[in-house]
Formats: sequence, C-alpha cells, structure tokens
Amino acid sequence: MTDDQYDFESIAVGAGEERPQADTKDVVTPIHLSATFGLDSAGYPEEGYTYTRHSNPTRDRLEDRLADLSNAARVFAASSGMATVSTVCLSLLSPGDRVVAADSLFGGTKQLFDEFLTGFGVEVSYVDATDPENVADALGPSAELVWMESPTNPLLKLCDIEAVGELTEEHGATLVVDNTFATPYAQRPLDLGADVSVLSTTKFVNGHTDSVGGAIAVGDADLAEQFGFVLRDVLGAPLSPFDSYLVARGLKTLPARMESHQRNATEVAAFLADHESVAAVNYPGLQSHPDHDLAARQMDNYGGVVTFELDGDGAETRAFVEELDVFELAMSLGGVESLVEHTASMSAASLSPAERETAGISDSLVRLSVGLESPDDLIPDLAAALDEV
Ligand SMILES: Cc1ncc(COP(=O)(O)O)c(C=O)c1O
Repeated sequence: MTDDQYDFESIAVGAGEERPQADTKDVVTPIHLSATFGLDSAGYPEEGYTYTRHSNPTRDRLEDRLADLSNAARVFAASSGMATVSTVCLSLLSPGDRVVAADSLFGGTKQLFDEFLTGFGVEVSYVDATDPENVADALGPSAELVWMESPTNPLLKLCDIEAVGELTEEHGATLVVDNTFATPYAQRPLDLGADVSVLSTTKFVNGHTDSVGGAIAVGDADLAEQFGFVLRDVLGAPLSPFDSYLVARGLKTLPARMESHQRNATEVAAFLADHESVAAVNYPGLQSHPDHDLAARQMDNYGGVVTFELDGDGAETRAFVEELDVFELAMSLGGVESLVEHTASMSAASLSPAERETAGISDSLVRLSVGLESPDDLIPDLAAALDEV
C-alpha cells in the first residue's frame, strides 16, 4: 500500500508503489505468468508466493492500488464482475436469509438472485431504493444482505448510500454497493457507509474493452478472509495475471478518461434532452434527473452512460441503433469507444416482457456508452440517425 500523501491521480498510476523487482527496476509491474512458485523447504510457507490461484505478484499490485483508491482494507480482483457478485452472496448467505435489493439492478445480478439464490432457500425482497424509507420498511431480523447499485444499469437510478448505510448498521445487515458505473474515481461507497463495494473492471476501470474482470473492496478483515476463501478456494475465480496487468494499465488513465467521459456524456445528454424525437433522457448530471442533488453530493463525476427513450416503437428504436456509425452496436460499456445498445433485445433479452416491464425497460430504451471520440462527431451521428426515425 502507498501512503496517504498522494492524490487519486498519482495513486492510479502507481506513485510510491513498492516494486519487488528491485534488481531490474521495472517501471511497469511485469506480468508474472507462473502458475506456481519455488519453495526453499518442504511445507506450506506463511509468507511469499505459492500458487497463482492464491496470490500472484501482478495481481497483488493491482489489488493494492485498487484498495488505496477505494479506501478499502482489502481488494480482491476476480475473473468477472459476476464472479464478485457470486463470491459475496456465497460468502454471506445461508438458507433462510433474506436479501433486500434495489428493484433496478444489472440483469445478470437479478438473474443470479431470482434463478439461483432462491434455489438455496434465500428470499429476495425488491424495493424502490431511490427512497431509503422503502429500504427501512423491507429490513427485518432475517435481512442479512442489502444489495444496491448506484447509478443503476440501465436506468441510472441512484440510492442514497449514506442513508441506507445508517439503516443497515442499525439492523446488523451487510450493505453491498455495485459501483461499476461510478468507479472509485467518482464514488467511494465504503466512505459513505457501505460494508462492501463490488464492480466490473470490464467497464470503466479497465476502460479499453479488452479484459473481463471484477473487484471486491472491503473494509473489514473478517469479511475479507471469507471473500478470499470463497473467491480463490471455492469458486477458484481470481483475475488472471495477464488481465491483472491490463486492468492495472487501464487504471492509470481512469481519472483522465472519466473526466472526458463526463464531458462528452454531458454534451450528448443535453443534445438528446432538446430533441423532439426523444421522450426522456436519464443522466445523473442533468438538472432534470430526479436525484441530481444526491448525485452532486455523493459523486465526484457523473460518468459516461446516458440512456434515453426514443419517441417511437421497438422496431423504430432498433432501426435507430443500427443507423449509427460512430456509436458501435455492441453490448458492454465503459470503454474509450462509444457503444450503443437496444437494451430490450440485447443485454435484457434474457428477461421476459413482463420482467422487463417491471424493471422499467421499454422497447424504446437506448443505452449509450459515451466514449472519448469528439462530441463534434458523436452528436452529428446521433442527429443523423434521429432524422431517419
Ligand atoms: C452494474 C453491473 N454489475 C456487474 C456486471 C457484471 O460484470 P461482468 O460482465 O464483468 O461479469 C455488469 C455488466 O454489465 C454491470 O453492468
């Protein structure tokens, strides 16, 4: 770990980091691909490296840097964002427990809750978490875990992490916040009262659309031990050394990228909000967002995802996303390149029409991941495709 003397931008590039390769003085942490490590004597050593599933020097550097940036005691880098969700659930839940979850959540997390956890005798109560009162009403003695996402995928709803953190503390429940859209640059859930923060590094943290991974940040040593056991020994799903190198590299430009994402997304959101073919725009940085004040208080950056409702039906919305050139039609988000998706037929395709309706995902919803291209190219691309609708 580095000391507190450095700013976020300096820690992100690795300022002050210990370099175990003192003999070669690598400026960049090398990729240690070795699956196993030689030992001086027979037995299981207390210290040092033994086997890459347990620990690896490249992954350790990434985890330490992410821990500094998240103000966490410990970070575990995992092989996907979903591996972090599974690790936390398998670590903390037993049959008879209840999860209180936001009703607007990433579809994969919801699928895990509805189709997997319930099979283990865990009940999930969904609440509109934009109002902490709803979380308070749903909490009770059997509520072990409270699962929030802020901002949510894809509707960019927020929850007041500090207020929910006070409630979970009163009730002895564990608060987990999915911080994928914000990243630790924009929001540090542990500072706001969450016990655990998870994220998909596949998105903004790596930022170059060339690695799938995730990270769990935790403040408490006992929880950390439990997560380490489940991630490495039960699921066997830590991040590979090569992906750890890629994420550590991407992390160096996180602050600069997030500033550019926000600048471009703000211009795109303002353009869409004024367009006659757009029925509604979701972006926490817009004054019209219902939780804009909370976003301004809780976040240091509004991020790069903008979603909107086209004033048209599903067929027209699909035609619109297919018409775009600079925005590439693809699932995922958070990379330097701008992507677009028709959520109902793409990332939410596994949900039934009724489930999509409950989740507020209409056939007219479009999700944009606004990248680092010039807004002078992004906005004309949107304008031309909207003209065709
Ligand atoms: C909010 C959120 N959490 C978790 C995940 C899962 O991440 P991964 O695809 O890396 O497993 C995603 C993926 O889109 C996401 O948007």
